[in-house]
Amino acid sequence: MALRGDCVMRLGVRVMLAAVVAAGLVGFCRGGVTSSFVRKAEKTVDMPIDSDVFAVPPGYNAPQQVDCLKLSPFLFSEFSVISSFFNIWVNCISKFPSLKVHITQGNHVGTSMIISWVTENEPGSSEVLYGTHKDKLDISAKGKYTRYTFFNYTSGYIHHCTLRRLQYDTKYYYAVGIDHTVRTFWFTTPPKVGLDVPYTFGLIGDLGQSYDSNITLTHYESNPQAQTVLYVGDLSYADNYPNHDNVRWDTWGRFVERSTAYQPWIWTAGNHEIDFVPEIGETEPFKPFRHRYHVPYKASGSTAPFWYSIKRGSAYIIVLASYSAYGKYTPQYRWLEEELPKVNRSETPWLIVLLHSPWYNSYNYHYMEGETMRVMFEPWFVQHKVDVVFAGHVHAYERSNRISNVAYNIVKGKCEPVADESAPVYITIGDGGNIEGLATNMTEPQPSYSSFREASFGHAIFDIKNRTHAYYAWHRNQDGYSKVADSMWFYNRCWKSSEENQC
Ligand SMILES: [Fe+2]
Repeated sequence: MALRGDCVMRLGVRVMLAAVVAAGLVGFCRGGVTSSFVRKAEKTVDMPIDSDVFAVPPGYNAPQQVDCLKLSPFLFSEFSVISSFFNIWVNCISKFPSLKVHITQGNHVGTSMIISWVTENEPGSSEVLYGTHKDKLDISAKGKYTRYTFFNYTSGYIHHCTLRRLQYDTKYYYAVGIDHTVRTFWFTTPPKVGLDVPYTFGLIGDLGQSYDSNITLTHYESNPQAQTVLYVGDLSYADNYPNHDNVRWDTWGRFVERSTAYQPWIWTAGNHEIDFVPEIGETEPFKPFRHRYHVPYKASGSTAPFWYSIKRGSAYIIVLASYSAYGKYTPQYRWLEEELPKVNRSETPWLIVLLHSPWYNSYNYHYMEGETMRVMFEPWFVQHKVDVVFAGHVHAYERSNRISNVAYNIVKGKCEPVADESAPVYITIGDGGNIEGLATNMTEPQPSYSSFREASFGHAIFDIKNRTHAYYAWHRNQDGYSKVADSMWFYNRCWKSSEENQC
């Protein structure tokens, strides 16, 4: 049973009082619900480097989860790179490159896809073959590869290839590693951007690569309707290893490939992507992240890959950078100032923001770290009726009421957030399950802006039904199965009815 946050202690001492006194307590109970569910608080541990989820199969330069036997002998009949099925087979068993595949949206509206993968021992081809029939990949796109060094680590060959001019709402098969080893995957493009387009997003943050991370990802995968992951930052936690051992970036890529190769993950940069380590000579922030995770930032007029926007279905998604400058006159500030007025709620009624460091957080972890960004941008979010802001960073779960602190005035003593129907709902979902463990220590009493909070691992689903309704559910990882522990209906404030856009 859930208990009201700041009521718990008071109820303990006043339990004997009559109903009149109990009624009086209501006035003191300003916060929302603090879940009584208690998750083990011990620090989790990363899965060992020889875990099956990281495995590279035996054999020279071997990839994981090879799909060669599913290939048709006719697959490459139109291409000179491999002339026969026999050659494919021979190459598959003898020269497998190691691949870690992930995809993300490649343009602003969802008709491009960026395919990224890594080969370990030699560059191999950066070409992707794709098509709408698995036995006829009759379109090709040429990509490029990059590499980087980090202290004593040298990366594999990191390929990025953008597939353009895709049809909406279409399943595509694609193949990579076409000169040595062929592995095939598939993805489905989103429906054409539009007002009443249903679309389902998954929410994951701060995942890492622990046993708990694996449970979270498995639970997410068991959600059949989820179509795209909105990822709120902190990916591999490689920086928790000596010298930020970048081998752990590779293991993370292999770990999540089972999802990232089949549906786009929309990336947000967190503090664990900064990798700024001057003591070992690594002074280029975000070096591994920038090389490994390309995003379509130029398509939205951004000048850096840490803040950008995309449209997908009926949603307009803005990704912000908690660890890039956002003060007045900075590139991110100027971009967002011009970006928000561009959102047409008659085309994309749902406006979602992703960022890493939460603005409203009632845990005693990273408290107020998002405050300076809130001060800069919150008035715009209220003005433009942002529906929901998803953040990570705090390794727990929390959902706010619709509140704002835009009237903040220190001279006049206005320092409290107040209910504001134009404000977003703020959701902290940094509960992927990484090595650093849960944030269990909460501020007491639970503040009025906090609607629900629980220190557990999990993921969420944001299920857009149409222009007026979306259903949100947070799934706790509970004793081996996924359980909905918090949910709410979102009613679109621009479309209170389906007749008129009130924004
Ligand atoms: Fe973080």
